[in-house]
Amino acid sequence: IPSPPPGPMNDTSAKAVNTPVNSWLPLADGDIRGPCPGLNTLASHGYLPRNGIATPAQIVDAVQEGFNMGNDIAIFVTYAAMLVDGNLVTNLLSIGGKSSLTGTDPPAPAIVGGLNTHAVFEGDASTTRADAFFGDNHSFNESLFQELVSFSNKFGAGNYNLSVAAQFRFQRIQDSIATNPTFSFVSPRYYTAYAESVFPTVFFVDGRVANGQLSMDVARGFFQNMSMPPGFFRTNKSAGLSAIATGIGQVFLPHPIEPGSNQGAVNTYEVNPNSADFTNFCKLYTDFVNNTVKGLYPNPTGDLLNALNANLGFFFQPLAGQGCAQVFPFGQP
Ligand code: HEM
Ligand code: MG
Repeated sequence: IPSPPPGPMNDTSAKAVNTPVNSWLPLADGDIRGPCPGLNTLASHGYLPRNGIATPAQIVDAVQEGFNMGNDIAIFVTYAAMLVDGNLVTNLLSIGGKSSLTGTDPPAPAIVGGLNTHAVFEGDASTTRADAFFGDNHSFNESLFQELVSFSNKFGAGNYNLSVAAQFRFQRIQDSIATNPTFSFVSPRYYTAYAESVFPTVFFVDGRVANGQLSMDVARGFFQNMSMPPGFFRTNKSAGLSAIATGIGQVFLPHPIEPGSNQGAVNTYEVNPNSADFTNFCKLYTDFVNNTVKGLYPNPTGDLLNALNANLGFFFQPLAGQGCAQVFPFGQP
């Protein structure tokens, strides 16, 4: 049985995080990176194992220490990913593609494919990564980054901020509607898409400034090179669910889009009334557990069942504070 997730840090002040012991190193043979510039950067600075294979506790510690991410959202996102992309028995997750380093696979339909796995966590209309339909859902995409630069010039005087995020999030959705016949924008992707649009304004901006304005040089460092700028300070207070939710509101409200998907052809977006949306946060949790996790693990037994139940319990921790009721897809342990 895995040990519980780390708690919050005592010291959540801004501090230098690009230090000699956590300096950037180029990839070594076999090192794995994936669709998340935050985790890629933490691995390339040694806050995570540099090979890109980590335990959930290591990920929670790393995002807290390296970026001052709040304990509630760190646990929520990490255990969501672990439950669908990780090896629950060995307690290891690849931050990119599938890897034998996470150990022996459980039986199908479980995937254990790492964060690159499409449609269980990773999804469409990403900021600097293309849709899986176009073949590569995880590598830095220069033409998308150039679009981000031009939006930042147009709406942010050269910086990425929440106003730019609102415009660019809408643009990425419109782009996928118009070009990707398989475009899907339902929970959990619906939530993670908006959250990802907010993260750079909070976590990639130096904590001595913390003004929500991200320069394109610094952005490229994180998104493409997985590197913190020289002397970088993490942000100046812990940013958890409530801080990120406030940012999401500012990204969503200028161009509200309901969850939905294309119907097998471009420009056929239909709203899906069954998807969780921003009016029903607990449904994000219950659907994820009852549909996504249970779909991958219809009938677990033994160590796998115990590990699933433990990880489901950790995943629920931050939801208890949101007034959600715990669900037990495998029976109450
Ligand atoms: C994207 C996982 C923490 C910033 C993603 C994606 C995954 C992921 C699977 C791909 C989703 C998609 O675009 O389709 C995680 C996990 C975390 C975590 C498990 C554990 C807490 C962070 C942190 C930051 C961050 C701390 C910022 C410091 C981002 C950004 C994207 C992203 C900006 C969008 C990338 C792009 O498309 O350009 N993350 N993430 N994440 N993540 Fe993370
Ligand atoms: Mg994606």
